[in-house]
Amino acid sequence: MKKYKCLNKQVFVIDEFQLVPIRYKDRYKIMKWRNDQIYHLRQKDILTKSKQDLYFGNVVSKQFDLQKPDQLLFSFLKKDICLGYGGLVHLNWTERNAEVSFVMDTNQEALNFVHLWNIFLTLLKQVVFKYLSFHKIYTYAYDLRPKLYDALSQSGFKFEGRLEDHCLVDSKFHDVLYHSCINPIESLRIRGVKKEDSIVLFEWSNDPLVRRNAFDSKKIDWDSHEKWFQNKLLDNNCKIFIFENKQGHPVGQVRLDYLDKKWLIDYSIDQFFRGLGLGKKIISKAINMIDKGTFMAMVKHKNQASIKTFLNLGFKNISQEVSFKNFEFIK
Ligand SMILES: CC(C)(COP(=O)(O)OP(=O)(O)OC[C@H]1O[C@@H](n2cnc3c(N)ncnc32)[C@H](O)[C@@H]1OP(=O)(O)O)[C@@H](O)C(=O)NCCC(=O)NCCS
Repeated sequence: MKKYKCLNKQVFVIDEFQLVPIRYKDRYKIMKWRNDQIYHLRQKDILTKSKQDLYFGNVVSKQFDLQKPDQLLFSFLKKDICLGYGGLVHLNWTERNAEVSFVMDTNQEALNFVHLWNIFLTLLKQVVFKYLSFHKIYTYAYDLRPKLYDALSQSGFKFEGRLEDHCLVDSKFHDVLYHSCINPIESLRIRGVKKEDSIVLFEWSNDPLVRRNAFDSKKIDWDSHEKWFQNKLLDNNCKIFIFENKQGHPVGQVRLDYLDKKWLIDYSIDQFFRGLGLGKKIISKAINMIDKGTFMAMVKHKNQASIKTFLNLGFKNISQEVSFKNFEFIK
């Protein structure tokens, strides 16, 4: 596998999906997808095998050894099968921003378009926000694929602007839309919960990983959630904090319940912002909101990301039960 010199991690993984530095062997698949989908790309002519070989030899291969490459491309794999490719182009190392590029296997578009875009963007955020510490990523998209906007908004991209009649496709002018996402690691904001947060809290509470890591794993229905949430809003022994990036996109929550003179912690990160170490940041910010006290958490043994988070924050593993560990931190 070729390695990017500018990255100290090369392979990014979520379940069975991976981003790996672009593989030479994927070049003809990529060529075919680009030719199939030429209508939404800034590509004027059909690619041929010899043109693709030249591009990989003269442009792509040069990026691996640069400290500040112009583009960072990855093969997007599911169980080692390449389902797409993309990454960052027009990297601006001074302003720390870059454009996102992604082309998926044309056969996947009908059924898996939004899902694959979301997974790709979650992995790419790890590259660009955690490992490159870039400030902002953006998309520049011909206004021809409305499903793309669902994926972008779920992934926390905000609509920034429209360039009218900006591209010419099949002799017709179309608009170009910009969407962007600002690095939440460096721009994380904390605020108290509002009644309008009920919907996002409901969605987060039914996220499959959240349910798996909870002590009662049953799906939550809307009516019980609303009843629970209205009670929590009135409960003086409960504090709920919502965390957002600079653009106001919610990325996670911490709930502190005061029970037996200790604050019990519940927290989660939006599925499309995991892998950035935000869990540690939101707990630390929530603890900062309380003058002093004892904080505790009960974490299932298999929830390794959460165990690591509490250990990294200096919590002590004070005891364990059959299925979970007890952590404590005194401030
Ligand atoms: C727990 C949760 C908030 C962590 O999200 P996150 O901050 O994005 O987590 P990350 O992937 O950045 O991982 C945090 C740490 O755990 C490590 N980690 C992640 N998965 C791991 C695994 N399977 N094995 C070992 N370590 C792991 C990471 O390397 C990182 O450690 P580092 O900073 O020292 O490198 C998120 O997984 C979540 O929302 N889960 C569902 C809700 C939940 O479980 N809440 C906690 C209930 S106690």
